[in-house]
This record gives sequence, structure tokens and C-alpha cells, in this order.
Amino acid sequence: MKPIKLIITALISVCIGGCSSQKELQADAAIENKVDSLLNQMTLEEKLGQMNQLSPWNFEDLAKRVRKGEVGSILNMVNPEEVNKIQKIAVEESRLGIPLIVSRDVIHGYKTIFPIPLGQAATFNPEVVKEGARVAAIEASADGIRWTFAPMIDVSRDPRWGRIAESCGEDPYLNAIMGTAMIKGYQGDSLNDPTAIAACAKHFVAYGAAEGGRDYNSTFIPERVLRNVYLPPFKAAADAGCATFMTSFNDNDGVPSTANSFVLKDVLRKEWKYDGIVVTDWASALEMVNHGFCTDGKDAAEKSVNAGVDMEMVSETFIQNLKQSIAENKVSIETIDNAVRNILRLKFRLGLFDNPYVATPQTVKYAEKHLQTAKTAAEQSVILLKNENQTLPFTDKIKTLAVIGPMADAPYEQMGTWVFDGEKEHTQTPLIAIKKMYGDKVKVLFEKGLEYSRDKNTAGIARAVSAAHQADAVVVFVGEESILSGEAHSLANLNLQGAQSQLIKELAATGKPVVTVVMAGRQLVIADEVKVSDAVLYSFHPGTMGGPAIADILFGKVNPSGKTPVTFPRMSGQVPIYYAQHKTGRPANPTEMLIDEIPVEAGQTSVGCRSFYLDAGNSPLFPFGYGLSYTTFEYSNLSLASDKLTAQDTLSISFTLKNTGKYDGTEVIQLYVQDKVGSVTRPVKELKRFQRVTLKARESTQVSLSLPVSELAFWGYDMNYTVEPGDFTLWVGTNSAKGLTKDFSVSAL
Ligand code: GLC
Repeated sequence: MKPIKLIITALISVCIGGCSSQKELQADAAIENKVDSLLNQMTLEEKLGQMNQLSPWNFEDLAKRVRKGEVGSILNMVNPEEVNKIQKIAVEESRLGIPLIVSRDVIHGYKTIFPIPLGQAATFNPEVVKEGARVAAIEASADGIRWTFAPMIDVSRDPRWGRIAESCGEDPYLNAIMGTAMIKGYQGDSLNDPTAIAACAKHFVAYGAAEGGRDYNSTFIPERVLRNVYLPPFKAAADAGCATFMTSFNDNDGVPSTANSFVLKDVLRKEWKYDGIVVTDWASALEMVNHGFCTDGKDAAEKSVNAGVDMEMVSETFIQNLKQSIAENKVSIETIDNAVRNILRLKFRLGLFDNPYVATPQTVKYAEKHLQTAKTAAEQSVILLKNENQTLPFTDKIKTLAVIGPMADAPYEQMGTWVFDGEKEHTQTPLIAIKKMYGDKVKVLFEKGLEYSRDKNTAGIARAVSAAHQADAVVVFVGEESILSGEAHSLANLNLQGAQSQLIKELAATGKPVVTVVMAGRQLVIADEVKVSDAVLYSFHPGTMGGPAIADILFGKVNPSGKTPVTFPRMSGQVPIYYAQHKTGRPANPTEMLIDEIPVEAGQTSVGCRSFYLDAGNSPLFPFGYGLSYTTFEYSNLSLASDKLTAQDTLSISFTLKNTGKYDGTEVIQLYVQDKVGSVTRPVKELKRFQRVTLKARESTQVSLSLPVSELAFWGYDMNYTVEPGDFTLWVGTNSAKGLTKDFSVSAL
């Protein structure tokens, strides 16, 4: 870039950025200078090489291509010596010495494995999520990884979709907050810190709306719903400085995201002023031929780059075709230059030109501090769904404990999906933890009952029942093996697999207190099992330290505080079910007559004409934001500084929260708002704030919340993003289904 242009760029960014410091502007300007200077030296082949990302099968083949400048980034090489070796070839043996970006899916931990993102969302604690991502970055950078493909912030409202495990749940605001926390954790304070790894907001966009919850399936999300529901977490990621974005596999309204210039250019670049890298998902460019959207690889390459993609993951249509496309004027050299600029900019920001080699010591892996961070995250991710007669926490009356179930000692499964580098040998399972941490208090009788979560062989149940008869209490660990959630792992039936339900029912039939602990990658349908259990804990695959976390919860050292980041259905057929539904013209009554109450020969309209299921009703088993504690909390004295506001005002909310029980505990208070009438129908409520509040037994506190009215804006009928004057209702409470409520109004200026 010519100096004069450089100064103008700097001035423009002051106007646009507004908040960038002079020093940051100078650093940015210096990097732009270096980018342009390097770009001007590159041949077209070298430019196309930078746009090419490979997952190497053979080191020598890769070395040849790197030497020729045909590779810009690699994924799935995790041996630090090998990474340094290939990097050395790039830096010292290629013509321009441009370093590679080394990438890997580090989704919820690298060696120390944290709860799956859905479990991290259940903490409602962005701080603990940020710390987890920071630990992952420190451990991953020790093997040369400087780019991860996380956070996955696809709003997910369908547990049939296995990738709900990787998301932060059903709510746009929760996904935005948690995604931002992960980005800050991965990227640290500065990308050129050797332990910083570039984050990747994925999958852009609406991938979680796959029809039928079947992975990779088409989505049909209109622009207004895109903007009001699916885009907000990605806007937050862009605002948080997320270094890269990844296009999603799905076609939305017939257009595959990898060639969707509306989201990739109009929204991401023009509206959001984004200057990071856009990378395809694995072969998603070439797969547009399968979609029937492109005729061949060349067509796919042209449609991808012309829509705004910078780098192609593994399918190599760019490097194989774009030289010809440029010669045919189907792709402009400006398009290529812009893509390569985005790639080089990130390499400079990561400091790879100055420090291309692995710098973090190997000793960071599984560091005690990291394990403790993971344990804290696991503790806060566990949700207490039921606790009758104070079954939990176990007291010293429990002398013999039957530990049962296929997930009680399943070190691999407990880590959950998307774990390539965590080692099961480091997993501390509940059985190990209970014996190690509480073996002096209780005698443990262990019976698996079933060999694995899908096991239909009931031969082991008798031994489990026998152990239960000898014990004072039973804790049974069920759920899903990790293979049953994650990418390409969709389920049509959300009930517990195998003979797990029978195992729980036979244990309950012994009359002993039964605590059911579910470890899964999604919310499962567990209505029957909850009914026969005295207490239920839900733990979305909790990772390496899940055992100690659950053990401390069972024995009361830790008071559970997790909340459901997704709505739990009563039946699979209720899906998709989520709290932020629209009201419809015939909303269900809470007391609808259900199927077994309907008389024979009932008249056509006798059960009413409302929007609900005859067999399941309309309410969930557990609502979004739900979670119990060993103590109880009381909300009172809700007040608003004013209930008449304009769009420029800030809503000031205050209420009292009291810990009315005998245990210290943490409550996640939640603020929901309903826009009662809009130019388009609006959700019955939307989460706008949440906060963890820790109180000692009997302690109370005054909680204050501020909500700028501007945050009530939405994309209305005319597709403008505005706050529409009118009446609103807010709730503060312990979950999305109940709370103290107040009305307020917003008037035009
Ligand atoms: C996969 C996933 C994506 C992942 C990428 C690289 O297919 O869709 O989330 O980051 O390929 O492994």
C-alpha cells in the first residue's frame, strides 16, 4: 500500500474503529505495509498456494508442495518436531519463506479435556469458559498449533442433531457470550503471543437448523430469522476480534454457505467490516457439486472465491483451477489479492514471520493448574435436575454405596465428542474419584450392569440389583458413548439407548435411594427415568476431571449450580422445542386435556383447538435455564428505576436474592424480556442478562441489572434493525419458565 493510502487507512480506521489506540493503529498500519509489500512480490501460483490448506497424509509429499509454495496452512499435524521440520522448509526452502499456519480442532481442551461446549454453556460462567480456552491454547501451542476451529456458535434447538454437543445451546445471547469468552481465551491478549491460537467462529451460518436435526441437511432460514437468531453470536465473535470464520456445510434456502455472498460479503465484510480469514469447512467447496449447486471443481472454486472465501480446506479446487478462471476473467486478480491479504495479515498478527517455530514447553500438558481449571468447569457444568427428600448430598448415613452403570468408569466416553488429542489414561472417572476421594467414608460396591451405553444384554443387571440391595444408596451412571454425539451423529430416538432404562427401573424397584447421573452429548428424553429416581444429575460429557467434580457434588463438597443451556423435551416428538418460541394465534393452556383423559367418542373440537401435543402437552420436561441447588433461593422486591423509557434509555432493574437454605450456594439469575407486540411476531421471551450470584446460607443481597433499551432492537417487518415503541414485560428468575415480573413501555423519542 502506498504511504499516502496508508495514512488514509489509518485515519479511516480511527473513524470506523473509534476505540483503537494510536499504538494499535500504528501496529495495524505496519502490518498492512508488510502485507502489501509481500503481496507485490508473489506470483499468482504462490498466491493460490496461500489459499490452500492441506491435511497431510505423507510428510515428503507435503514437503515438496510446501517448498513449491503450494500450501498456506496445514491441519492435523500435532508432532512438534514434525511441525518445526515442515515449518523450516516453508521458511527456509520456499522462495518467499512465508510460514504456514498450523491448525487443529481444539474444541474443548487439547490434552486436558474440558466439558463439551454444551456443558461449558451450562455453567453460565464466561470466566470459567475463557480460562478453559486459555488452557487449551497453552497446551495446543506446545505442539505448534496456532489456529483452532472453535468456538462453534451455531444456535442449536434440535437434540437429534449430534453437533448440539459442540454448541453453546439454544439461545443466541448465551452463544454470543460464551463464544466471545472462548475467543478471548484462545487468542489471549495478543495474537502474537506464542501461546495465542487464532479462533474460528463456526459454522457460518445456520448449520444448527438442519431440517429434521439430520446433520448436513438443508436449512430454510429466511433473512429475518438469520439476523434475529443465527447471526448475533457471529456478530459478537467478529466484534470480539475472532481471527477467522468457517463456512458451514448446509445450503440455506438453496445456497450453500461456502458460496453465499450475502452472508460472506454483504453481512460479514460490508456490514461488519470484518478483516479476518474465511475458510471453508472440510471439502465444503467441492461438495457443492454434490449439492447440485456447482458443475465441477472449477465452478465450485469460482463460486467460493467470488462469494468471499479466502482459504479452501483440503479439496484443492482453488489451486487446481483459479489460474485458468483468472485467464477466463471469471475471477479477478483483486479477488485473489484480497483473499491472500487476509491470510498474510493473520500470519503477521500471529507473529509467525518472527517466531515460526514451537516455543511453548511440553510440560504444560496436564499441568495440575490445568486439571484444577477443568475440574472447576466440570463442577459448574453439572445440573441438579431433581433431589427428592434431600437424597443428595450423601451424608455419613451412607456407609455402603452401590456405584452402577456403563458410564461409571468409561474414561474414553466421558471426554465426549471432538477429542483427538486428550488421552483416556488421564481421565478420572466417577468410580475412580469416589473410591479415591471418599473411600474412607463409604464402602463402594461397583457393578456396570451393562457393558456400554447401547448394550441390550441384560445379564449384568441382576448383579447390579444385588449390589443395590446390599447398599444404603445407589448412584447409577448412564447416558451416551461419545460416538453418539458430534459430527454426523444424528439420532431419531432421544431415549436412553440399550437397556439403560430397564437398569434404572430395576434399581429403583429395590426401594433404595437411587441417584441417576446422565453423561451425554445432548439433552436426552429421560422423563420415565427421572420419575423413578430420587435425584438426577445431568453432566454433558464432563471431560478429564468429570469424576472428581461429580464425586464432590455427590458428597456435598460442591453445591451444584449448572443450568440447562437447552430445553429438555418430554418426548422426542416435541423437538424442536425451545423457550423462545413464538406465541401463535392459539397458544396452549397450561392445563390442556391430555390423551389419557380424553373420553371415548370425544367430539371433534372437544379437546380445544390450541397449539399442543395430545400425548405430550406443550411444556418441556425441564425448561431452558433450569437447575436446582442443595439450597434454595428466593427472589423478591423487584423494582425498576423507571417503567417508561425511550430507545436511548437504560433499563435499571433491582431485586433481592436470598439464600433461604442451609448450604452456601450459587444461583444463576436470569433476565428475560418480551416485546409484546411487534411489526412481526416476537418470541414469548428472550434472555438478555444472566449472572452467577454466590450467597452463604441465609445471606441475601441486592442484585442490580442494567439493560440498554437499544438491546431490545430486532429486524422488523421492513427489515430495519430498530427498537419498536410499545409495551414490554420482563422477568427475573431462576429459569426461563418462572420469575418475578414487571411491565414497562418504550416510547418513540
Ligand atoms: C469438520 C467439521 C469442522 C471441523 C473441520 C476440520 O468436518 O465440520 O467443524 O473444524 O472439519 O476438522
